[in-house]
Amino acid sequence: MAITIKSQKEIELMRESCRLLADVFQNLENEVKPGMSTMEVNILGDKLIRAHGCIPNFLHYEGYPASICVSVNDEIVHGIPKKNHILKEGDIVSLDAGLIYKGYHSDMARTFGIGEISEDARLLIERTKQSFFDGIKFAKEGNHLFDISNAIDASISRYGYGIVKELVGHGIGTHLHEDPQIPNFAQKKKGPRLQAGMTIAVEPMINLGGADVEWLDDDWTVVTADGSISAHYENTILITDGEPEILTLY
Ligand code: MF3
Ligand code: CO
Repeated sequence: MAITIKSQKEIELMRESCRLLADVFQNLENEVKPGMSTMEVNILGDKLIRAHGCIPNFLHYEGYPASICVSVNDEIVHGIPKKNHILKEGDIVSLDAGLIYKGYHSDMARTFGIGEISEDARLLIERTKQSFFDGIKFAKEGNHLFDISNAIDASISRYGYGIVKELVGHGIGTHLHEDPQIPNFAQKKKGPRLQAGMTIAVEPMINLGGADVEWLDDDWTVVTADGSISAHYENTILITDGEPEILTLY
């Protein structure tokens, strides 16, 4: 499938979809506390999305059973919410969610600390976020897609963290996942040329330890092979002929 270029009208719909999702995240960030179950986080996120008149796009996506991915500590992404998984002080929790507004998808992720967290965890979260911003410095018409990948890699590799390779960012629009795929590690090829009107989700997933991952028996939850903690930071962005527009910031 070719990479879609959004019209001005579609861009407006993407902006609104992303604005509503950012509002959901702001609420979630304020509400997520020690003692809450990961299922309660999912139920709250689902309610917030529907309160905006939108549809959670993750629910039933390839059979995914919840509206929000809630991944704790060594869970990298696609953690399935559970009633008996209680968040506790010192955990880090990655929330990943998206919604559909008038047919247009948004997608974002953040990792939050629950109460006081270790210095290692704080730095991992901060540097994962920084790698996103270092990456999107290159997200501009005329550059190549893998300029973003190379910059994320360069941002992270100095720390010796593991960059997850099995999961990547993606185009987004009338589908949650559109072309192109956006790796978070250095590429030999240049990749497609970026054009104004492309909307993409850039989402580094970074492990404190090694890069290797495993899938749990639930077929969804991706965990670090060495049990180290992992952070995730994702925004949907719009490519322009100047600075990218980060559509899911709040
Ligand atoms: N948020 C993931 C992504 O960024 C998609 C989650 S798929 C789901 O691509 F099935 F877990 F919902
Ligand atoms: Co995504």
